[in-house]
Amino acid sequence: MRILAGNAHQKLARRIAEYVGRPLGEVEIKKFPDGEVFVKIVENIRGQDVFIVQPIAHDPNEYLMELLIMIDAARRASAARITAVIPYYGYARQDRKDQPRVPITAKLVANLLVASGAGRILTMDLHAQQIQGFFDIPVDHLYAAPVIIRYVKSKELKDLVVVAPDAGGMKMAYGYAEALETGLAIVSKQRKSATEVESSNLVGEIKGRDVLLTDDVTSTAGTLCQAANLLKAEGARDVYAAVSHSLLSEYGIQRLLASPIKELITTDSVPNREWTEFPVTVLSVAELLGEAILRIHNNKSVSSLFRLE
Ligand code: R5P
Repeated sequence: MRILAGNAHQKLARRIAEYVGRPLGEVEIKKFPDGEVFVKIVENIRGQDVFIVQPIAHDPNEYLMELLIMIDAARRASAARITAVIPYYGYARQDRKDQPRVPITAKLVANLLVASGAGRILTMDLHAQQIQGFFDIPVDHLYAAPVIIRYVKSKELKDLVVVAPDAGGMKMAYGYAEALETGLAIVSKQRKSATEVESSNLVGEIKGRDVLLTDDVTSTAGTLCQAANLLKAEGARDVYAAVSHSLLSEYGIQRLLASPIKELITTDSVPNREWTEFPVTVLSVAELLGEAILRIHNNKSVSSLFRLE
């Protein structure tokens, strides 16, 4: 077995390799003067089970291309099997044609990964579960929820309600509510633009209760902050937010600072800057991904990793 990593998140890749008990394989990644990417896998990987770790985040075009080129290099080096380990699958939010003349990038990226030589995909909290069906190769889809739930339980919040900040997040929120044995509520969201949303209605009982907003991803924090404002106006006590992937920018942090949200809980599926201005708790999913890699390699079941305790 060999674990390789692109430049997107070396720290996570090193943690995964450490859990698996193998050194990270040596890869040379350089840029030609015009910006083209050059990759050379330094060690022999002929006949090996190769795992390439690369989230498609923060600079998605750069890191997607790097991943595709690494997979191609591994295929041409006669790897027996190549698994693209994509802790955050970027371009997933464009997963349907909901207006004329728009692409379905989630499908395009799936096609590119398969065309480059990926034999299987290991990923986590896809924007929509159906994206698994965009691949005709095996997809192991993990959830960050077990890691996040362990932490939320340790906070011993009283009278908690889990809230989905939009209709698309209902299934995820339901999973959290079941595992945490709490009530469930939902906020209706209308997206006005890439950075602006409007949260207008609440369905469910939250008055005088602590609230945990759950979502797959936050970027400008508009979704979370708008929902939190509505929840506060409807009488919620403390508002916490948990997202699997945080693509937060400075702009998002400023929004969180101005919101009633007390803490953002997330994972290291993508690189996170250290935020001193706002409490962001980053939990590691390296063990989860490392364990999944070991089980895939040893042909063991990965479904027990989905268990929510
Ligand atoms: C969209 O449906 C996603 O699940 C997230 O709610 C959304 O991408 C969050 O983006 P932002 O933080 O910019 O509102």
